[in-house]
Amino acid sequence: MKVLNMAERKRGWDPSQLRKYDIQLEEIPRLSCNDPRVEELISENKPVVITDTKLVSSALKWDIDYLEKNIGSGDFSVFLSRNHKFKYYDDKKLQDAGTEFTPSTKRVDMKFPEFAKKLRQWMRGDERLYLQQPLNNTVGPAIVEDFLKFNWEWVNGRQKKHSWGHLTSNLLLVAMEGNVTPCHYDEQQNFFAEVKGFKRCILFPPEQFDCLYPHPVFHPHDRQSQVDFEHPDYVRFPKFREVRGQEAVVGPGDVLYIPIYWWHHIESLMRGGYTVSINFWYKAGPMGQILYPLKGHQKVAIMRNVEKMLVEALQDTSQVGPLLRALVLGRYTFPNLEDSSESKDTNNE
Ligand code: OGA
Ligand code: ZN
Repeated sequence: MKVLNMAERKRGWDPSQLRKYDIQLEEIPRLSCNDPRVEELISENKPVVITDTKLVSSALKWDIDYLEKNIGSGDFSVFLSRNHKFKYYDDKKLQDAGTEFTPSTKRVDMKFPEFAKKLRQWMRGDERLYLQQPLNNTVGPAIVEDFLKFNWEWVNGRQKKHSWGHLTSNLLLVAMEGNVTPCHYDEQQNFFAEVKGFKRCILFPPEQFDCLYPHPVFHPHDRQSQVDFEHPDYVRFPKFREVRGQEAVVGPGDVLYIPIYWWHHIESLMRGGYTVSINFWYKAGPMGQILYPLKGHQKVAIMRNVEKMLVEALQDTSQVGPLLRALVLGRYTFPNLEDSSESKDTNNE
C-alpha cells in the first residue's frame, strides 16, 4: 500500500480515491487569501485554490440533515444518471436537435426530503443522483441567515478589484461520492466553494481548445468536450494526447477560482461520502482595450460567434459542417495539418 504524505493525511483523503486518467497534470497553486499572489493569479485569469477566505464558513454545517430541516419546501433540480457521469445538456438546444440525440441524464424536480431519503438509501448499482439548484428565495430562515453570513466583504472585494460583472447565481451542488461532471467550460467567472467532502478539479486553459474537441455550439452538449476521459478515442481526437492540465483536490473551506472559459472536470472522490459545494458565478467584466495578439479565451469567443453566424445564415445546422469543410480543407489545411499557427511558407526564397 502507498504511504501517504503528510499533506494528504491532514486533508482527509488518499490518492486511491481519485479516478485514473492518462493525462499529464500539475498542481494548481494553493495560497492563503492574504498572499498577494492570489490577486495576481486572478487578474491573469489563472486558477488558484484560495484558503482562509471564510467565504462559506457559515455553511460548513450544511450536511444532509441540516439542509433537510432548513432548506424549505421548494423544488430542487436533481439529475439522474445510470453511470457516474453527469454530462450537462442544454434543454433549449435539445428541441432543435430532434431525434438524433438522447441525453444520458434525466432532470427531475424533487423536494429536498425526497432527495435526502434517496441519498441515504442509495446502494451500488442504483441510479445515481446529483442535486444542482441555484439558491433562491424559497429557502428557510436558517439558510437565509447562513447565506447572509457568507464573507461578502471578501468576495465583493475581489469582484470590484478585478472589475467582474454582477453575481448571477449561487449554485448549490450536492453530489454522491464518485459522481463526475465531465470536462466543459462556462462563460462566467467562478469562485467554487467546497463545503462538505472532497472534490478533485482538473482544469485546462482555453488555449487547449484544439485538444479538447468541444461539441458544436448548436449541439445540446455545447461547451462540453466530446472526449471521454476514461476511454479517449485517439483516432477521432488525436490531439487529446497532448492535453496538459492542472489539478487540485478541494475540501471544506477551500475556494477554487475557475477562470472564465477554462475547461474543468470535477469529480467527488470515491468512497468519500456525499459532497456539498456552492459556486459563485459572475458575468465577465467590460472588455476594456483589446490588445494583440488576442488571448485564448478571446479566440474561443470569436469561434463561437462564427459558428453561431453560420447557423443563423444557413438556417440549417446540418449545413454548418459541410460549409466549414469546404472553406478549410486543402486551403487552410495545406501543407501541414498539424501546424497551422506558424506560417511555413516564408522560407522558400
Ligand atoms: C461549475 C461546475 C460541477 C461540479 O461550478 O462550474 O461545473 O460537479 N461544477 O461541481
Ligand atoms: Zn462548470
